[in-house]
Amino acid sequence: MGDVKKADRQDWKESANDPIWMHQDGIDMKFFEKQHDLSLWVDRCRGASESVGFVPTMGGLHEGHLSLIRAAKEKCDRVVASIFVNPTQFGPGEDFERYPRELQQDRELLAGAGCDGLFYPTVEEIYPQGHQTRVSVEPLGSQLCGAFRPGHFEGVATVVTVLLNLVRPHRIFLGLKDYQQFILLRQMVGDLGLGVVVEGVSTVREADGLALSSRNRYLDREGRERALGLYRAMEAVSEAWQGGERNPEALEGVGRQVLVASGIDRIDYVAVRDSRTLGPWNLDSTSPQLLIAAFVDGVRLIDNRLLTS
Ligand code: PAJ
Repeated sequence: MGDVKKADRQDWKESANDPIWMHQDGIDMKFFEKQHDLSLWVDRCRGASESVGFVPTMGGLHEGHLSLIRAAKEKCDRVVASIFVNPTQFGPGEDFERYPRELQQDRELLAGAGCDGLFYPTVEEIYPQGHQTRVSVEPLGSQLCGAFRPGHFEGVATVVTVLLNLVRPHRIFLGLKDYQQFILLRQMVGDLGLGVVVEGVSTVREADGLALSSRNRYLDREGRERALGLYRAMEAVSEAWQGGERNPEALEGVGRQVLVASGIDRIDYVAVRDSRTLGPWNLDSTSPQLLIAAFVDGVRLIDNRLLTS
C-alpha cells in the first residue's frame, strides 16, 4: 500500500473543523503533522488526568512495533506513536533513502493495535532551520554499534529528546531488540531529568527465532536463512553459558564460530557485557548481556539476549 498523498492530507485538514478529533479514511486514530495540534491533544489528555504512553518509531511497522503499542495500552490511558525516519541517525551510505515508507499501511496497523494518536512530522518540523543542538551520551554512544556507526546514537538521542519534549508523555516504550538504544536512552532520561518512565519491551521473533526488523524485508529467502545465524549463535552461547563457561572471550568465540558457519558475511561484534551499563562484565556483577551485530547481503542485523541459567 502506498503513502497517503500530500493532497489527500491537505483536503482532509482543510475540511476538518477540529483536525484533532477527525477520523480520516475510516481509521479511528488522530493524525498530527504539526507539533501544535499534537500539544493541544496531549494537553487535553493530561487535563482529563489521562496518562500518556509514547512509542517512537521510524515506520515500516511490524508485530514488534505493535507489541510496544499493546504494552503502552496496558499501562497508559492514551497511546501516541510517532513515525519519523530520522535523517541524523543514518550515516553516509546507510539505508536512509530506501528505508520503508508505508504511511497508509502503518496507520491501519497502529489503529488496529489500539493506538490513539500518530505524530507524523516532517524533517522541518523536528529540525527547523537553524537547529543546532545535539544530545550525546558518552562514552555509551561510541561503544558497540556506536563504534561502527559514528554519530548514530547522537542522532537517536537528539531526536528522542525533541520528541519527548513535544509529546510530553508519562511513559516511553522501547524495544529490548535495540538493547544499546534502550540502555542509552534510559541513561539520557536520567541524566537530563526528563521525567518520563522508560519501559523496555521484549523482542518479538518469527517462529524460527529471527527477530522482527523493518530491515528483514531487504533479505531474499537465502539471505533470510543466513540471517538465522544470529539466533543460532545466541543459542550456542547460551548453551555454553549453561554448561558453565564464564569467560567472556570464550563465550564470544562460540558466537563468532556459529556466525561464520552460518555464512554471515561480516561480523561487527559479538560482545558479552554488563547488562546494566554495557561496560565489561565480570563474574561478580549480574547476568551478562550477549549482543551481536552482523551483515547479510549488505543488511545490518542486530540481536541480543540476557545470559541466564
Ligand atoms: P524503529 O527501528 O522503527 O523501532 C521503533 C521501536 O520498535 C524501537 O524501540 C525498537 O527497539 C522496537 N522494535 C523493533 N523491532 C522490535 C522487535 N522485533 N520486538 C520488539 N520491539 C522492536 O528504533 C528506532 O526506530 C529509532 O531509533 C527511534 C527510537 C524511533 C528514534 O528515531
